[in-house]
Amino acid sequence: MNIYITGASSGIGEYVSYEYAKKGNHLALCARRKEKLEDIATKCREMGAEVTIYSVDVTDQHSTKESIDDFLSKITKIDLVIANAGLGDLDALHKGDPTLINQVIKVNVIGVQNTILPFIPVMLKQDDGHIALVGSVASHIAWAGGGAYAASKFAVRALSESWRKTLPKTIDVTLICPGFVESEMTDPVEWTPFIIKTDIAAKKIVNALHKKKKMFIFPWQWRIVIAFKGLLDIFMANAVRKMHKKKM
Ligand SMILES: NC(=O)c1ccc[n+]([C@@H]2O[C@H](COP(=O)([O-])OP(=O)(O)OC[C@H]3O[C@@H](n4cnc5c(N)ncnc54)[C@H](OP(=O)(O)O)[C@@H]3O)[C@@H](O)[C@H]2O)c1
Repeated sequence: MNIYITGASSGIGEYVSYEYAKKGNHLALCARRKEKLEDIATKCREMGAEVTIYSVDVTDQHSTKESIDDFLSKITKIDLVIANAGLGDLDALHKGDPTLINQVIKVNVIGVQNTILPFIPVMLKQDDGHIALVGSVASHIAWAGGGAYAASKFAVRALSESWRKTLPKTIDVTLICPGFVESEMTDPVEWTPFIIKTDIAAKKIVNALHKKKKMFIFPWQWRIVIAFKGLLDIFMANAVRKMHKKKM
């Protein structure tokens, strides 16, 4: 398979790359840190993959498109695009400065659009392809302190749902919603319930993509939390409706 993956220089993207490398695929590994990509590419090649690296910032529409065009010129068909690059930061509302959270939205939403859109005409022409977006359990739950991160991941969920409905059924769209996974992003985080190792997460993601799942929330504990939150929302909505009726 020919696979383009962003955020391949660490964490989930790095380990997903290893999983696909073992199967001898042609990988385009993208991120900003070139040296990290070079090390990971060497490991992937040792595992049997053909690898091209692209040092790109996904918020830069033009350089991301250039990397995509270059990869497309090397392959006859694109099989899978994984928009995984992401940034997590707290809102720090007390500082009154939107700079950091603007960047969260840029990388996590604009970056996903910059990564996926250029592939769509190609997938439409080949009448085949698979788009994977890395959301989060924060695509379903907005925690205190993480409003912008949740907003970005809610947006990613909306994009995946809408694109799935818009595109022909020959193009699969998968939303990956990890809970906590060991990575540079979670290293500084103190409270990480149900955290899992990066290699285990990568295996689960690749398995879900192989099954062409529409949405994959993992580990399983988060499926229960999210389902419970859904029930709670319905219960609250009914209670509020009854309360309003009494007032009318
Ligand atoms: N770890 C978790 O618990 C967890 C949970 C839910 C969802 N996720 C999601 O999983 C994805 C991967 O995160 P991770 O946990 O593996 O974190 P990570 O180790 O920090 O990896 C983030 C990756 O994104 C890349 N990246 C960041 N900004 C970029 C930019 N502007 N342009 C290009 N690449 C950029 C980084 O590479 P460079 O710095 O080299 O550019 C790095 O490769 C993210 O979308 C994250 O939101 C993670």
